[in-house]
Amino acid sequence: MASTPESVTPKTDADRVIIFDTTLRDGEQSPGISLDEGEKLEIAEQLARLGVDVIEAGFPIASQGDFESVQAIARSVSGPIICGLSRTALGDIDRCWEAIEPAARRRIHVFIATSETHMVHKLRMTRDQVKAEAASGVARAREYTEDVEFSPEDASRSDFEFMCEVLQIAVDNGATTLNIPDTVGFAVPDEYAQRLANVRKVVKGDYVVSTHCHNDLGLAVANSLAAVQLGARQIECAVNGLGERAGNAALEEIVMALRTRADFFGGIDTGIKSEELARTSRLVSRLTGYPVQYNKAVVGRNAFAHESGIHQHGVLNERTTYEIMDPAAVGQGESKIVLGKHSGRHAFADTLKKMGYDLSGDALNQVFTRFKELADRKVELSDADLEALVAEEVGDTVRYAFSLVAIECSGGTNSTPTASIVLDHDGEKLEASAEGDGMVDAACKAIRIATGIDGNLTDYAVTSVTGGVDALADVALRFDVDGVSMPGRGLSTDVVEASARAFLNAINRIVRVRDSGENPNSVSRPGSITP
Ligand code: KIV
Ligand code: ZN
Repeated sequence: MASTPESVTPKTDADRVIIFDTTLRDGEQSPGISLDEGEKLEIAEQLARLGVDVIEAGFPIASQGDFESVQAIARSVSGPIICGLSRTALGDIDRCWEAIEPAARRRIHVFIATSETHMVHKLRMTRDQVKAEAASGVARAREYTEDVEFSPEDASRSDFEFMCEVLQIAVDNGATTLNIPDTVGFAVPDEYAQRLANVRKVVKGDYVVSTHCHNDLGLAVANSLAAVQLGARQIECAVNGLGERAGNAALEEIVMALRTRADFFGGIDTGIKSEELARTSRLVSRLTGYPVQYNKAVVGRNAFAHESGIHQHGVLNERTTYEIMDPAAVGQGESKIVLGKHSGRHAFADTLKKMGYDLSGDALNQVFTRFKELADRKVELSDADLEALVAEEVGDTVRYAFSLVAIECSGGTNSTPTASIVLDHDGEKLEASAEGDGMVDAACKAIRIATGIDGNLTDYAVTSVTGGVDALADVALRFDVDGVSMPGRGLSTDVVEASARAFLNAINRIVRVRDSGENPNSVSRPGSITP
């Protein structure tokens, strides 16, 4: 047992909120998450870089692994206060202290439930027993450190007067932070905030009031912020909103709400380096295996992405038309213009320009039309998709003899692959069907029949422009006709259609060479347009 208590009680000024991060304790209690010591250390180091004030590193009595992880963090992570959670049992508190002792600044967080349902069905204790436990637990913790937090678990469903009696006992025995947990996410903002404000009125002493809100009704952040407005100066929260069941208040949302609406919150702020938020979120997501939803506030990959033409136009002219935060301020780089089926020509041309393609007039129209066709079938087009599209289309600004109108294929393990195609040739529809060894073969045969041009198909290669099952297929091939070898290139979400387009592209070039008497060696390769 430590002989002298330490002077590390966190005091807070009126416009500063303490960020108490519980990603490694409550967050780690999320179903399916189990972090090893190395992973916990990595997260704790990042939390220190992020600038959290307190890291709740774990619940040392829960297991040997938890104990060792807390101890490892206490030994090597500097900056934040390192806190361990403990029940009121004296042995638990001793073990908690043992784990956090190596830290430069340490806190013991003691809790016991005060709601009727928890006392009757879980603790099987009377009110007097709970009071006695709170007194002895806090007093024991206080023998080790001056920084002692006390939580009446299930506070928002506890009888207010009884809870305040327990809180007063905790303060009288040395607690310096009173945390009021909405353990089951039952509270609503005004009610929760008022409860905390009333605690401050009833419980005498010098302590910081803290929030700890669960998200069962999706109100964890709102409840925490409402409480701050009425005087709470510590918020317990977790990265990406991790925590038991529906999770805890999301750290990144709390921080950015206070900062973005400083006008409303009167300038109350945290010490968080917000540029580290996205990196922290990604690290926690990767190590816990919990994905971050695309549309998650602040750190979701779509939090600064714009798809509709009207929004894109606005953001391109002036970012603040549709963004209330600067993506760089949360480590998300810059606003993202996502090209999809709702995008307009303005954003499309702008994106191409940034990629180095300065298209206008017919060339732009042609690529834009093709882009819309593809965007209707593919959710989102990446830069690589666009690059391939421009490479295919820009070479085609010269009007070609044949264009693909439609393609239908059928076949399977027990039936012969067949393809039917419809081509446009100077306004005339050409139709043909063919069977083949596979669907690509059948499609190429049908094109041969419709165009009346035959030769040898060589060098067929298909690559995926981007990753994933919805990637664009990029087909490059060579078609040799009467001694002229012509490359062709085609792009589609469907590999057979990409092949048909590539094949037709080669045929069109052959026709053009024949008609113009050009030297085939001087014909630009499809896809060779340099941006
Ligand atoms: O939700 C809760 O009540 C807790 C306490 C241990 C603070 O996590
Ligand atoms: Zn909790």
